[in-house]
This record gives sequence, C-alpha cells and structure tokens, in this order.
Amino acid sequence: MAMHYDSRPSSALNWGCRVALLESRELRSVESARYLSNREIAKYIVLPSQSRRSAWLAGRLAAKYLFLNRLEMSAETNRQWVPTLVKLSSQALGAYSPWMYQQVEVLPSESTSSHPKIVWCGKDRRESVSLSHAGGASCACIGIGSPTAVDIETAVPRIDAFYRNTFTRAERDWVARGAEGESIRSDWLYTLLWTLKESALKLGWVNPASVWDLPRIEIDGLPGLNHIGQFWYSRKMDNEFVVSTARVREHCRAMQTQVAFTGTRNLILTVMNL
Ligand SMILES: CC(C)(COP(=O)(O)OP(=O)(O)OC[C@H]1O[C@@H](n2cnc3c(N)ncnc32)[C@H](O)[C@@H]1OP(=O)(O)O)[C@@H](O)C(=O)NCCC(=O)NCCS
Repeated sequence: MAMHYDSRPSSALNWGCRVALLESRELRSVESARYLSNREIAKYIVLPSQSRRSAWLAGRLAAKYLFLNRLEMSAETNRQWVPTLVKLSSQALGAYSPWMYQQVEVLPSESTSSHPKIVWCGKDRRESVSLSHAGGASCACIGIGSPTAVDIETAVPRIDAFYRNTFTRAERDWVARGAEGESIRSDWLYTLLWTLKESALKLGWVNPASVWDLPRIEIDGLPGLNHIGQFWYSRKMDNEFVVSTARVREHCRAMQTQVAFTGTRNLILTVMNL
C-alpha cells in the first residue's frame, strides 16, 4: 500500500481537492439569510433546531467559499492527490460579498436524495461537493474531476455491540493491533473506520446508501498505524493529512479509493476520492 505523510503549510494550496472547516460558533455574527438563495432559505427555515440550522449553514458557507475561491484560481491540479485543509472564520467568509454567496447554491442533487450538488448562477456544476457535521464543526469538500466525499466524526466510546455489528473481524483485528489495550486509541481507530465507511456511502457506491449498510462494507488495505498516533495527542486540526489508498469491499465487489485523514484527539476528518 502506497502511503505518504504530508505536512505542507496551509499557504501551499493546490486545487486538486480542498476541504474547508467552519465551526458553528463562527456564525454568531453572520446574518445567515444574506448568504443563502431563496431555494436554500426555504430549506433552512424548516430545519428542526437551532443547532441543526447552524451546522447546515456552516457546511453550506464552507462549500460556497471553496467554490468562489476555486473560481479565482487557475485550473491547476496536483498530479498527486492530496487534500488541502482551509480553516475558515467569520472574518475569512468576508472575502466575498453576500451576493456572490447567493449565486452559489448547495442543493440536493435530486428531490429523492440528500446527496448535494453545486449550482452556480442557476446552472448545475460538474464539481463534486460533500458535506459533514460533527462536534460543532462542519466541513465541505469540493472535488475536481472525480467524486470526492468527506466525513467528520467525534471519537467517542460506543457500546461493544456496535463494534461487533459494524466492523468485520479483519477491521476489529486492525484496531486491536493499533490500540494496544488503550481505549482512547481504540475509540479513535474505530471512529476512523466509521468515517471511511461513511465516505464510501457518500460516494454513492453502495446502493441503497444508508448507515445500515455500513456492516457489509469492508475497508481493506487499511493505513499503517505508525503515522496515526500523532493525532491522538493533538488539540488542533492541522493541514497534515495521512494519505493512503484503501479498497472498499462489499460482497464480491471492490473499489480502489484514495483516502486522506487528519484529526485531533477528539475529531477525525476523512476525505475519500474515487
Ligand atoms: C450520508 C450519511 C451516511 C451521512 O450521515 P451522517 O454522519 O449522519 O451525517 P454527516 O454530517 O456526515 O453528513 C451529512 C451530509 O451528508 C450529505 N448527504 C446526505 N445523504 C447523502 C448521500 N446519499 N450521498 C452523499 N451525501 C449525502 C448531506 O449533504 C448532509 O449534509 P446536509 O444535511 O447539511 O445537507 C447518511 O445521511 C445516510 O446514510 N444517508 C443515506 C440515506 C439515503 O440517501 N438513502 C437513500 C435511500 S435508501
């Protein structure tokens, strides 16, 4: 399995794949409706709670920011697929006017699916977009040229039955080897596996896609454990991705993917590219 470790500073941006992270608390001073289109406002106002509205909005603003930023850049893409993490603040969002944000819409790709798509000035775009929310943070990823999915999860303990029912024997052995008996490590590694499976779902490869399908998806060719330990003690999410390949298996089918992940002791952010 090819694997490398990337630690470029965030200023060295490329446009192969970018991920933006925005915490909901950054939106306190943001007048949400100014950044949304009428179609988005119609969805926003019926969301069930303030926390869901904040997460939903943060994900969309992150995606819109990335898209607008992409329009400004050359179409250059990296030969080697490595995501770049952009940490956004309310101040950073001010780089573009509310009117510009309204022209970029993040809408369901079909009325029957929650899979998002990007619409620019009323026209569907080919870039793939993926969103995820956890622990007060939302992230968005825009992929150029190939479908890309993002998933963010908090690393918390879950009950044994969940692990037994959600992960295969090989996956559980991989976690046991890496955890070395420490529950914090074990929670982290299981959560990483979970983000990989959810990312595979978001790529639309499993049909019908639902979290109930996760037990029959197996992540094969898992990343080596030697570069992962750095995240267990980190308090800050950095632009330092472990990049690897992984095979996603479902019964007799398998798909080869590129995966990248970063994190802190509590949070894991995974990107998967077809
Ligand atoms: C995709 C899924 C795994 C994400 O679960 P989650 O961890 O609870 O949520 P996350 O915060 O990581 O991701 C949520 C985002 O995923 C995106 N999403 C939802 N369904 C998606 C799908 N089928 N494909 C790709 N992305 C999807 C949405 O953009 C959503 O954000 P939004 O609500 O702000 O628009 C889960 O929602 C799921 O299983 N959905 C599939 C349901 C479905 O479409 N079934 C089809 C008929 S069987």
